[in-house]
This record gives sequence, C-alpha cells and structure tokens, in this order.
Amino acid sequence: MGPGEDGFDVAWTVPFLCRGWVELVSRDHPEPLVFAHDGYGFIPQGTEVIRVPVTGLHPGMELRFRAVTESMDDPSVRRTSDWRSLRTLDPAKGHTRFAVWSDTHSQEETIRTLDRITPRDLDFLAWNGDICNDWHEEDALIPTLLHPGGTDFTRGRPMIFNPGNHDVRGTWGFRLPSLVFRPGTKPYRAVRSGPVAILFLNTGEDKPDHHPTFHGRVACQTLREEQALWLKQIIREPAIRDAPFRIVCCHLPLRWIVEKKVYDYDCCSERSRILWHNSLIEWGAQLILSGHTHQFTYLPPEDGFPYAQVIGGGPDPQTSTLIQAEADKKTFKLTVLNLRKEPLLEEKFPALSPSP
Ligand SMILES: [Fe+2]
Repeated sequence: MGPGEDGFDVAWTVPFLCRGWVELVSRDHPEPLVFAHDGYGFIPQGTEVIRVPVTGLHPGMELRFRAVTESMDDPSVRRTSDWRSLRTLDPAKGHTRFAVWSDTHSQEETIRTLDRITPRDLDFLAWNGDICNDWHEEDALIPTLLHPGGTDFTRGRPMIFNPGNHDVRGTWGFRLPSLVFRPGTKPYRAVRSGPVAILFLNTGEDKPDHHPTFHGRVACQTLREEQALWLKQIIREPAIRDAPFRIVCCHLPLRWIVEKKVYDYDCCSERSRILWHNSLIEWGAQLILSGHTHQFTYLPPEDGFPYAQVIGGGPDPQTSTLIQAEADKKTFKLTVLNLRKEPLLEEKFPALSPSP
C-alpha cells in the first residue's frame, strides 16, 4: 500500500507475535535487498499485523518483493510469501492507468466482484473511502483493510487508501490511520503518475464535528483547514502544477445534483469546498472522483464549477460501480462501469498546458 516514487509499504497479517522483513529484487539488484526496519530502530514486529516501510527506491523501478515472517518464540517457524511485482510511481512515464473503488462497506460480494473485474498491473488502486460500516469491533480493522472479502486485492494494484466518513466512525476509528499511513505522514497526499497529478483530499465527516452521533471523537474541520493551507503550497510544486491532467480523489463529492441541503447529513462536502475551491480552480482541477451517495452521478463542468464531478461506488453489487482511468500525454480517458462490466460513462479530458 501507499505506493510513491521512492517506495511503498508492505503490511500482512500474522497469527501470533512475529517479526518480519521484506526482500526485494530488481534488474539493478539481482541479489535481494532486505528491508527490516520499522522506522523506530526495531525489526518490524507485531501480534496481528506486520508493516514494513520500503524506502530509498527510484521512480519507475520495476521490482519483485516477498515477505518473510518468523515466530519470535521459535525462529524455526518461518514463512516466506510468493514473489509479487510492483512498479514505483514515475512522473516521467508517458502513460498511467489506475482504478477507484469506494463505499464497499464490508459487502463481500461487491468486493469480490470488484476484485474480479478490476485489471491487475495498475499503477495504483485508490480505495476512496467507506470501507466499513463504522468501527464498532476492534478486530474488524485488519481483515477489512488487508483482505476484505477474503481477496488478495492489492496484488498487481498497490492501494492508496483515502478515508471516508464511515472510516472515522465508531469506537475504534482512531486506530485506522496508524494501520494505513506511515508515521509522520498525513491522511491526504499528492501523487504524480505519468502525465496525471492526483490530489487525495480528506473530506472527513458528513455532519459538523459536534454532532451528537460522533460522541466527541472527530476533529474533521481542523483537518480540512490544514488541507486548505497545504493545497496552496502543493499546487505550486512543479510536478503537480504543470501536470497535463489534474484530478482530485475525495470521498464526499464537492458537487451534487442540487446545491440545496436535503438531508441532515451532507451529500456533498460544502465544508470542504468553501476552503478548497479557489485553490482547485487556480490549479486547474479538471475532475473530482468521489463516492458517498451510493448513486452513480456525472456532473460536467458548468459556470462556477470548472471541474467535472463523478460519483461512483456503493455497497450493493446491483448499483455499485468501478471507475477506471487511463492517460497518455494527450488524453485522459475515464470509464465508469457497473459490476456487470457495462459502461455507464466514457469521457475524455484534454491535456492542459503547463501553468504560466
Ligand atoms: Fe458510503
């Protein structure tokens, strides 16, 4: 998970107290490189999950890696995983291909179908929020995140997780970020993959932080404000500023079919849009990819909203969707499919010029 230009993280489940490490081979390193540092001076260890940061790589590196696990009590008990392939993100590459899932809500049939119909060999799979139905049970965290529906869903598609409103709910929601995001990083980020820059923005909850159902657990408005400041900086970074295609992934959409508030929760995150809209326009954002409403929707750009809005995903296999994106230097092609692989939307976006 968490692929970048210089590395990624490997996380896997273990049945009892173990240590673990990652072995990596590539054309430049036919003898395995070993990654065995948790970032705090320990060999990565855990009773339920082991997580190994793989760092210091270079963009576009084609590699194979495997995980080795050893019992702390009896080092003769050792398991070595199969090798799997991965390519670090590469801003210089002429093309990219990725997919987006959202609102799977622990629905196993939906997850298994998505896993079956989503291509492998993607630069990344964005899991755009609401992977659960609130975290009431602590022991649901790791299986839901690492092998939902019993799938090996990240094989050939390193996952970038982007939290949704349900992912911050429930007694144990506070534990999720430390399972997904590396210490010292934020639950929002920017990536450049080939000609596409993608901002993963965190829209947080769909009601105000003081809402009684949150039991005083969330501080989403502070996170939105922090992202507003970060946005002003990141859209000036050359790799992001000048990308031919400028895309946003965020769980709650920034636009919806009506502007009027209809329910006691937000269908689109006006709280986020108020803070982020001007920066997104200045950047030249072309498309916002979201979930949340469980109803496929496409809103083309219009006056006041120069960015298109796509809403996909959902827990029900009859109405859920898969978003696929593919870009070369000239064209960004977006396809939204239902889970029978029938296209609901095919849209092309032209390349933007570098900002003046
Ligand atoms: Fe949802």
